[in-house]
Amino acid sequence: MTLIGPSLMCADMGILKETVIRLDQAGVDFFHLDIMDGNFVPNFTMGPDLIKSIRPYTNKPFDVHLMVKNPENHLDTFIESGANMISVHVEATDHLQKTLKTIRDKGLKAGVALNPSTPLQELVYVLDTIDYVTVMTVNPGFAGQKFIPLMYQKISDLKHLLNKAEYEIDIQVDGNIGYETIPDVLKNGANMLVCGTSSLFKPDVTFEEAVNQLKDFTENQKTDQFKLNLK
Ligand code: DX5
Ligand code: ZN
Repeated sequence: MTLIGPSLMCADMGILKETVIRLDQAGVDFFHLDIMDGNFVPNFTMGPDLIKSIRPYTNKPFDVHLMVKNPENHLDTFIESGANMISVHVEATDHLQKTLKTIRDKGLKAGVALNPSTPLQELVYVLDTIDYVTVMTVNPGFAGQKFIPLMYQKISDLKHLLNKAEYEIDIQVDGNIGYETIPDVLKNGANMLVCGTSSLFKPDVTFEEAVNQLKDFTENQKTDQFKLNLK
């Protein structure tokens, strides 16, 4: 199943509560929450208090994407704010395995996020400690960027690596995920789509329309793929 998760950093913070309620009712599968520290990435977004403030308005999973240095120092803060899944960047910590194990031991799903240039080899010795991999398809830090074409190959290589190692791990893609890029990311093995300015937060479409269109589109991609595989 293809899971759709709005990237809330793309939302109008002035109407975040209403936005979460409407996207939830429209049928999204999870909410993607980007945390930036102005150090690992040159930008700031939201903090734990904002996450806490929207937590009561949906039961859908909160996927906290930590773009911060030494994420191991901040896990409890975001767990207390209502996170259900936490991804940390392999480039931001010296203690990846320990950090992932801590996230899992606290009952959450643990994810590893990889910057575009970071090799998949970094995952090999933590495969037994992760539930999802976030393939950054843009350089982290800003919404509205262009998809890096070689990331299609990286998604496919990751899918092969996971199949060969026989691990059932979700592949999340993050950055410029929209109607142009979705067909090939799905074909290459991604199943969790972080959707921002290229698909859900568009000025001329209501959230309800945007979610329905996206669900229909991803379903059709899967059907087309299935037909293709039958040939
Ligand atoms: C960027 C963030 C993404 C971003 C996606 O560092 O991790 O989640 O918000 O926005 P779009 O879809 O506009 O690229
Ligand atoms: Zn993100």
